Amino acid sequence: MAEKTILTLVGSLRAESVNSKFAEIAVATAPEGTQVTTFTGLEEIPFYNEDLDVEGKVPAKAAELRAAVAAADGVLFVSPEYNGTMPAVLNNAIDWISRPFGKGAAIGTFAAVIGTSAGQYGGLWSHDDIRKSLKIAGASVLDEAKFAVGGSFQRFASLEPEHDAEVVEGIRSVVATLAAAEVAAVAAAN
Ligand SMILES: Cc1cc2nc3c(=O)[nH]c(=O)nc-3n(C[C@H](O)[C@H](O)[C@H](O)COP(=O)(O)O)c2cc1C
Repeated sequence: MAEKTILTLVGSLRAESVNSKFAEIAVATAPEGTQVTTFTGLEEIPFYNEDLDVEGKVPAKAAELRAAVAAADGVLFVSPEYNGTMPAVLNNAIDWISRPFGKGAAIGTFAAVIGTSAGQYGGLWSHDDIRKSLKIAGASVLDEAKFAVGGSFQRFASLEPEHDAEVVEGIRSVVATLAAAEVAAVAAAN
């Protein structure tokens, strides 16, 4: 049984998403003793609405996301940039895991952000906004555990990400840092 669990949340919903392929690399390169899984069905979660966030009304998929994030040792966001920020599907996910206020599933969860975008900076604004929102939601964000690849359409036009050594190593390194985060935090506190 794996000692550590990391959950990936992917910001692109399209079938041929390169960011989804990045998440698959995270699954495949997880260090020994760490299990990485991808949360599926983010698009099934209704937009956050305080009227729904009451006992007996929380949508099943939102409850599933909250439980999955709460159970994981770390969360890896894998995202492109949409209009200079994060895709709405991730913004919605963060809203759900940020509440109930003071008791959100995001609180204390280690988190890191990676991804690829068409622009030259690989989605930097998106990633910065994800980190900012996650911090406000109470997550322990690993600012330095990051990896952004620009020019996604050209770079991966004929080369699958899994065959791009720099990409595989960049993702593996972030996953390893995320998996080690709890150990490092405990060591720092002692
Ligand atoms: C609504 C929309 C907005 C976008 N805005 C940006 C942007 O601000 N910056 C950027 O680098 N790429 C932008 N793109 C292009 C995305 O980077 C590209 O579609 C993305 O890398 C695809 O990722 P995927 O392969 O995981 O689906 C945008 C794409 C869409 C659909």
